[in-house]
Amino acid sequence: MSKKATAVAPSNLAFIKYWGRKDEELFLPANGSVSVALDGMKTTTTVEFSDDFTTDSVTLNGLLLEGFGLARVVKHLDRIRDLAQIGQKVRVVTNNSFPTGTGLSTSASGFAALTMAACAAVGLELSSKELSILARKSSSGSACRSIPDGFSEWYDGDSSETSYAESFLPADYWDLSFVVAVVSDKPKHVPSTVGHASAQTSPFFETRRSLMPGRIEKTKELLKKKDFTALGELVEAEALELHTIMLTQKPALIYWSPGTVVLMQTCQKWREEGEIEAYFSLNTGQDMYFMVRSKDEAKLVSMLEQTGIVKEIIINHPGKGAVLSDDHLF
Ligand code: DP6
Repeated sequence: MSKKATAVAPSNLAFIKYWGRKDEELFLPANGSVSVALDGMKTTTTVEFSDDFTTDSVTLNGLLLEGFGLARVVKHLDRIRDLAQIGQKVRVVTNNSFPTGTGLSTSASGFAALTMAACAAVGLELSSKELSILARKSSSGSACRSIPDGFSEWYDGDSSETSYAESFLPADYWDLSFVVAVVSDKPKHVPSTVGHASAQTSPFFETRRSLMPGRIEKTKELLKKKDFTALGELVEAEALELHTIMLTQKPALIYWSPGTVVLMQTCQKWREEGEIEAYFSLNTGQDMYFMVRSKDEAKLVSMLEQTGIVKEIIINHPGKGAVLSDDHLF
């Protein structure tokens, strides 16, 4: 007997970032985080468990996964097989609608979609909170933030049961645009999950941790008040602080490419010269996010195009979380 299901999950952008873990086994982050689900960048995943399969296979964007990539997915599927008490082998086909491994959180959307599809396939009926907890354990902790809709907080819980993401504002609360500039589609050299493990070697890590509870409250307050300028300044400073930790941990992690630095400087110059009020963010990769009010979206896209260094532009707005779909990939 075989069991098949498909899920579609969004990527998410963290205003307040997850970096470092207080529990490596349970994937409990060193601090809470705040994010928004993005409607323009998605992973679609079909999972089938069947007695007919003799091995586990995972196809990502048309290529069979091997090594670390395959092991990461199979480990997570083993968790779900244990919960469902089945031993059947699995076939997974998964497609990202946006570049993989360049700092745009494909593992967040990927592991959220995998968790939801695999649970549905085996008939596990989990609540949004339970799915978020399970997605967190996948090794891409931020996958827990790709389950809920709109603007979410991943709580700084001290146990597995209290470390999950929940929506605090719906997707249509505020007309914001998150324009992604792909600087290069070259995948990162160090996965985030490896970087988290040595975050605490930065001499600034504990200072950052101590500032987090206040910063999270502030971010939620600014979102609720729709204070764009204060939110933008906070989001950009937070991204730079994340990179300060990464640059000062051992071994140092340098995810920027020359184009990333040019775009950071250009964005600041645009604001200084009153051309457009855009703020940037970036994660573990060279590709970047620019936040503007939606009325400025078209202008920003044209300004990014004119820089001559952006390979692809992806427009996002606050979006829905993970959902099941009847459009199976096989
Ligand atoms: C810098 O280990 O959750 O993006 O990069 O998707 O594998 P992947 O994720 P994860 O680390 C995310 C780190 C971050 C910040 C963030 O999104 O909170």
